[in-house]
Amino acid sequence: MYRSPFGGTRAIAAAVVAVADHRLDEDEHAWIGKIEALKDELASHTDMAITFIDHGAGDPGDDVTTAEMARGRSVTRTLAEICRGAAIAYKWRLFLFRLVRLFKPSSCIELGTSLGISAAFQAAALELNEKGCLSTLEGSEALAAIAQGNFRRLGLERVRVRIGRFQDTLDRVLGEHAPVDYVFIDGHHDEEATIGYYEQMLPHLSNDALLIFDDILWYEGMQRAWKRLTNYRHVRVAVDLGEVGVCIMSKEASPMLRERYTLPFVGWSIKGRLRRARGSWLRNAVVRSLWG
Ligand SMILES: C[S@@+](CC[C@H](N)C(=O)[O-])C[C@H]1O[C@@H](n2cnc3c(N)ncnc32)[C@H](O)[C@@H]1O
Repeated sequence: MYRSPFGGTRAIAAAVVAVADHRLDEDEHAWIGKIEALKDELASHTDMAITFIDHGAGDPGDDVTTAEMARGRSVTRTLAEICRGAAIAYKWRLFLFRLVRLFKPSSCIELGTSLGISAAFQAAALELNEKGCLSTLEGSEALAAIAQGNFRRLGLERVRVRIGRFQDTLDRVLGEHAPVDYVFIDGHHDEEATIGYYEQMLPHLSNDALLIFDDILWYEGMQRAWKRLTNYRHVRVAVDLGEVGVCIMSKEASPMLRERYTLPFVGWSIKGRLRRARGSWLRNAVVRSLWG
């Protein structure tokens, strides 16, 4: 796992910049091209319907109850719809890829596999790092089977799908992976559930572990969850990138070392992003990464 005198903040900034520049070496380009081609193929299946059990919070305004989430709701979508609706956007896939390349975690977990697109990006980065493994958790057997097939087709050997509700599988996976260096949380976007998973993970994390939360703007509940998370004393660094929030943890948790940044990474223009950035340390780190 990456360690630096800047405690990883600079590496997050470097990841943002590398994504904005679309900076990829030949091997990285080859992996990403392969995964994107597979994703485009999945997205072309507009007539292949999949019925699966969804244990998530649904879309904003769905008002799914805790009991419904625990029981799961039967949902039917085409493969194209799942691909469009569930997979994290390209720039965030690249961002995850870049974080794994930079931080070189050994032990990684993802909550929310769906078709395995984000997992494939992170697992490809692990392949290129030549170290580390990823367990990705998915409640739907139907989706997990498709994801597993995708990993096989891509030749990704450092990723494994764990089938079952997070409520039932996370404990065991955490025990197997501890100390956990890296977690990407992209499922069950419910305020209390998100806080609950976070608290469950805490004792199993390595010092300097990286936690990435998707959809922190999804609806008020997720915005509150992100705010609550950033108030935990073990969150040393919290970077709000707009849709995605990144935390770097610390066992020492001194209030003196706390860093909080907002860098809405919504556009691709570096000038625009820097103008919007608050939190001068991160902005300076981005500038330094750009211009030495
Ligand atoms: C947004 S999708 C994940 C997308 C994927 N990370 C990507 O970017 O390619 C969320 C997934 O989490 C799963 N999920 C949601 N809540 C869950 C729970 N409580 N237990 C297990 N799986 C859950 C859903 O079935 C869905 O496939």
